[in-house]
Amino acid sequence: MFLENKIDAVIHFAGLKAVRESVKEPLKYYEGNVGITLNLLHVMQEHNCKNIIFSSSATVYGAPDKLPIKEDFLLSRPSSPYGTTKLMIEYILEDIYNADKDWKITLLRYFNPIGSEKTGLLGENPKGIPNNLMPYIVRVAIGELEYLNVFGDDYPTHDGTGVRDYIHVVDLAKGHVKALENNISGIHIYNLGTGKGYSVLDLVKTFEKVNNVRIPYKIVARRAGDIAEYYSDPSKAKQELHWETELNIEDMCRDSYNYIIKKNKINI
Ligand code: UD1
Repeated sequence: MFLENKIDAVIHFAGLKAVRESVKEPLKYYEGNVGITLNLLHVMQEHNCKNIIFSSSATVYGAPDKLPIKEDFLLSRPSSPYGTTKLMIEYILEDIYNADKDWKITLLRYFNPIGSEKTGLLGENPKGIPNNLMPYIVRVAIGELEYLNVFGDDYPTHDGTGVRDYIHVVDLAKGHVKALENNISGIHIYNLGTGKGYSVLDLVKTFEKVNNVRIPYKIVARRAGDIAEYYSDPSKAKQELHWETELNIEDMCRDSYNYIIKKNKINI
């Protein structure tokens, strides 16, 4: 790629992202996430390409002391090797900038991306039983899984279930375009989230309402390592990148369902 083209900038999305798998196979994650990033950075350096946007994650904040989460919060050791790889890559990129101030580096800390691109042609379709909430809900919606397991209803949140800052993938993608347009020398960090928290049951109810389907669920034990509640303060991205989310939780639920319906050629 670098031999055939003059590459000005890299948006580095590649990586493994299954939290539970990373606990079982940490080496796969350190090699697959940190290792490939080192290879990429070497090649970039060789070709004098010093402009990178990196897909980081809110997981680098660990369990925050207060909400909403701002970019200058102290980071803590993430609860999984997956999360640790994100933090390690952030540190590597910071060190690269410290060694050579020509680098333009943006770290985008994603909150919980869900949804699908509007035509329903591009979406999330994990292999096997999904670990994340929305991919699981859509499988229940089409009858491929019987019911959703809700991991805990005794958290200190408005309905007892875990609260997250879900963001539509299309808004997330636009955040990268803005980051690229605004990337100047330095290391810049932005939260990409909506700033609003929704519980597991909020998401289930909204999904049922906008798509007119039932999502049967059972309350089960908490999932190890889960945090009760987190959501972003996205105001830094708004001020500096002139980016803010345009799509809401209804859009996320509608587009996720649209994708799975089209993918499985289901008539509704
Ligand atoms: C995790 C990672 C995050 C990563 C994201 C997407 C951590 C701390 N978080 O987020 O970095 O970007 O996955 O890969 O490592 N839930 C259920 N039933 C289910 C599935 C989930 O009740 O079957 C609940 C969870 O308990 C949680 C919420 O739904 O409260 C969201 O879970 P999930 O979609 O897995 O994302 P996170 O764990 O927040």
